[in-house]
Amino acid sequence: MTTMNPTAHGSGNAATDKFKTQRVSSDTSVERASAIYQDVLDALARIIHKHEVTYDEYRVLKQWLIDVGECGEWPLWLDVFLEHDIEEVHYNRNHFTGTKGSIEGPYYVPDAPKLPATCTMPMREKDKAAPPLIFKGQVTDLEGNGLPGATVELWHADEDRFYSQFAPGIPEWNLRGTIEVDESGHFEITTLEPAPYQIPNDGPTGWFIKSYGGHPWRPAHLHLLVTAPGKRAVTTQLYFQGGAWVEDDVASAVKPELILDPKPNAGGIAEVTYNFTLDPEA
Ligand code: DHB
Ligand code: FE
Repeated sequence: MTTMNPTAHGSGNAATDKFKTQRVSSDTSVERASAIYQDVLDALARIIHKHEVTYDEYRVLKQWLIDVGECGEWPLWLDVFLEHDIEEVHYNRNHFTGTKGSIEGPYYVPDAPKLPATCTMPMREKDKAAPPLIFKGQVTDLEGNGLPGATVELWHADEDRFYSQFAPGIPEWNLRGTIEVDESGHFEITTLEPAPYQIPNDGPTGWFIKSYGGHPWRPAHLHLLVTAPGKRAVTTQLYFQGGAWVEDDVASAVKPELILDPKPNAGGIAEVTYNFTLDPEA
């Protein structure tokens, strides 16, 4: 693994290294590939002619593409700018009706340690300075029956906006866990409220954002992957009502159904209930 540091280059390389450990394939036919590639080339040709793209602009593009690859930032750039459309198509073409998905992003790591239905996320002493959050709910099928075999994988950034395994000096499974729900599908997780998140922007992805006058912020979010035997797994994110950047996410991944509104419980700790509904497997 490349040396990690909390820069775009460091976390980009870590995300690229992690991605490369997977084996990816798809059963796309030659006919489908041909149709998609032709449409991509036609769209690019239309853009070049419409905007009368210059040779200088073409060379800058070539250099930028090289830089994104060399800095290991393709997982960052793709998950910020394209994944939300892929996710929307995935939801619609499968006619799902359960909990809405959202982008996975570049920082998911499988096989996080198992935690019981009522648990506290692994966190460092310093993380405990952040406001605590009790996140609870039930995983059910479309008819509302609890799913006892379900798991809720949760991962999120710390107050400094770093994800464990993608920045140095953080315990391997910090703020990552695979929660096993109880026999009625319920869970109650104590964690911390994540902060708004700035995608690494000191590399070519940051240059891209600056060049069109944009900002690199994502609203504070929890990442989730909810699974149950015989059910469709849902990868999603949850956001916080009224939080910064909820209305203007650089990754365009917020949906109204995915916004939490925690309220102080009797002990004064922010608490929120969110139930997950899983579609049957196709
Ligand atoms: C990126 C980071 C995230 O935490 C996320 O949820 C989506 C994208 C990124 O840096 O690309
Ligand atoms: Fe994230």
